[in-house]
Amino acid sequence: MNAYDLSGRNAVITGGGSGIGYATAERFLKSGAGVEIWGRDADKLKAAQASLKAFGPITCRSVDVSHWEQVEAGADAVSGQLGHIDILFNCAGLSLYVGPMLDVRVPSWRDTIAINLDSAFYCSKAFAPQMVERGYGRIINTSSMAGKEGNPNQAAYSAAKAGVMAMTKSFGKELATTGVLVNCICPTVFDTPVVRDTLSRAPHVMKAFTSKIPMNRIGQADEAAALVSWLASEECSFTTGFTFDLSGGRATY
Ligand SMILES: NC(=O)c1ccc[n+]([C@@H]2O[C@H](COP(=O)([O-])OP(=O)(O)OC[C@H]3O[C@@H](n4cnc5c(N)ncnc54)[C@H](O)[C@@H]3O)[C@@H](O)[C@H]2O)c1
Repeated sequence: MNAYDLSGRNAVITGGGSGIGYATAERFLKSGAGVEIWGRDADKLKAAQASLKAFGPITCRSVDVSHWEQVEAGADAVSGQLGHIDILFNCAGLSLYVGPMLDVRVPSWRDTIAINLDSAFYCSKAFAPQMVERGYGRIINTSSMAGKEGNPNQAAYSAAKAGVMAMTKSFGKELATTGVLVNCICPTVFDTPVVRDTLSRAPHVMKAFTSKIPMNRIGQADEAAALVSWLASEECSFTTGFTFDLSGGRATY
């Protein structure tokens, strides 16, 4: 592993109990950061904390990031405990409904936007002020190839993830002179619990997934964590408001 130096930095990772968030927590810890992982499932978070604690100081907190009050309370609590948060990785996300847009129920639409887009806004709103005050911060958001391409039967998720990219551009420009950089990752299909679950129920789907990816394979969570680690480091210093591809060559724009 090529480590970027994150010593002395504290990070909050939403959705850190599994998948890309978990892999990034491990990498941040190995790079010297203190890490707090957030999620909705307390048992999953505790299990993740137990398996990560060998790598460095790790705490966890039950926060549903689709609710502003919970995010605000969680941000106050972790900031009080750790003193300062320098890195925010907005990784929590979920595709709730797969089916025709006209069949999407209104609460499902709203929940999908809340989990994937509102959450990144809420966490940015909660943590960015202290970063600006200290003159240093790194915020990394998580979009999806669905947000670039507009997947059929995933209208709400695609719209939310497109919104994440646009919000990243706006916020990156707004904060460009503050020392706080805001960037975004854009994964295609990754080998994480959600995808593994889908594939166990429908193995033929793997072929459909990989056929669109020039590297002819899906991504590994460690590969996303490697990019996020650079975006979270001081070495990322002249890039903000940008969305970084993680698609094995699928996206060329
Ligand atoms: N795996 C892929 O193929 C893929 C592709 C494109 C984008 N993404 C995005 O990458 C991110 C990470 O996904 P992953 O593949 O690691 O899946 P994952 O399910 O392992 O991780 C997502 C985490 O977010 C948490 N979460 C969901 N809703 C939450 C909420 N309201 N509050 C707090 N936590 C919540 C879940 O508990 C889970 O731990 C997501 O934003 C996802 O949309 C994943």
